[in-house]
Amino acid sequence: MLLQIPDVLAPAQIAHGRELLARGPWVDGKVTAGHQSARAKDNQQLEEQSAEARELGEMVMGALERNPLFMSAALPLKVFPPLFNRYEGGQAFGNHVDNSIRQVPGTSYRVRTDLSATLFFSDPNDYDGGELVVEDTFGVHSVKLPAGHAILYPATSLHHVRPVTRGARVASFFWIQSMVRDDGQRTLLFDLDLAVQRLARDLPDHPSTMQFTGVYHNLLRRWAEV
Ligand code: NI
Repeated sequence: MLLQIPDVLAPAQIAHGRELLARGPWVDGKVTAGHQSARAKDNQQLEEQSAEARELGEMVMGALERNPLFMSAALPLKVFPPLFNRYEGGQAFGNHVDNSIRQVPGTSYRVRTDLSATLFFSDPNDYDGGELVVEDTFGVHSVKLPAGHAILYPATSLHHVRPVTRGARVASFFWIQSMVRDDGQRTLLFDLDLAVQRLARDLPDHPSTMQFTGVYHNLLRRWAEV
């Protein structure tokens, strides 16, 4: 499932985030790349341990936890602390698959990457190129979203970022270990959740509303690892 999540960040958060991102400190993006993807990766990354990265990371995590669409679609068990990258002057990230397991530096905390996410900080009018291109079983998708919006996609998919030929593309990226590992099961649960929410709104007293709610939870109980 490839899903857009609009308005993860409010305008004031985007503005504050941009101030922190402008301050830096920026390092070569290869620091978090695996052997394979290091050859394809050409960008800059906000120093992971910097005060700016920590504050930004907390802001993004807080926004995700309050976002019902993200929670319903990702069913997150663990989220890798958000990282931040910048592409400019022709920088790009060639085709790659994300590492399956990520360990938070200096800790024993590991995250299996079921889902990848990109949250945009730059306004799309402020740069040319920089599309995130994701290949899945339904074809090739080119993604470039307004600031504050995020895209969620299976970490199993091949993807790349096209060269940024004007301006700068600044974004946050992170991975999610879902309570439901299988993308197909997770997608079914998400569809069912949306349908149940609509039923609960339109027909709150209909007995099927309760019954479908029960089916949702019983499938989640069957498929979730917590
Ligand atoms: Ni990637």
